[in-house]
Amino acid sequence: MALTDINAKSLETTVAKLKADYPDVEVKAIEMDVGVEEQVEKSIADTVSAFGRIDFAVNNAGIGGLLVPTPELPTSEWMKVQNINVNVRSNSTGGAKQH
Ligand SMILES: NC(=O)c1ccc[n+]([C@@H]2O[C@H](COP(=O)([O-])OP(=O)(O)OC[C@H]3O[C@@H](n4cnc5c(N)ncnc54)[C@H](O)[C@@H]3O)[C@@H](O)[C@H]2O)c1
Repeated sequence: MALTDINAKSLETTVAKLKADYPDVEVKAIEMDVGVEEQVEKSIADTVSAFGRIDFAVNNAGIGGLLVPTPELPTSEWMKVQNINVNVRSNSTGGAKQH
């Protein structure tokens, strides 16, 4: 199983818990930002390199953005949330689908 996240600390914690709970499962941690296409591609390549193939991919990285009334939300923040929550899902799934 390959796990990816932008947050190295939470990735480390999750991998440690998985290894403790399922010692027979090989777990590979990959720190990456789903908003950066090159990092998505590298994470897919690293996963295929480690495991030979991808049986399924789950894209559940997500951000909530600033909790402010919509008229006060800067366009850049709106675009950031849309990019991480919506756009990259199809990009990363499409990349993984080839394997
Ligand atoms: N938890 C819920 O009940 C719920 C309900 C409906 C929708 N959602 C949506 O689902 C998504 C995930 O929710 P969650 O509760 O699991 O959130 P979470 O914060 O627990 O998990 C999201 C993970 O995505 C990671 N992440 C954020 N930006 C990233 C990036 N650019 N690259 C790689 N990893 C990144 C975070 O570090 C975190 O580990 C969000 O978009 C949320 O709005 C959640």
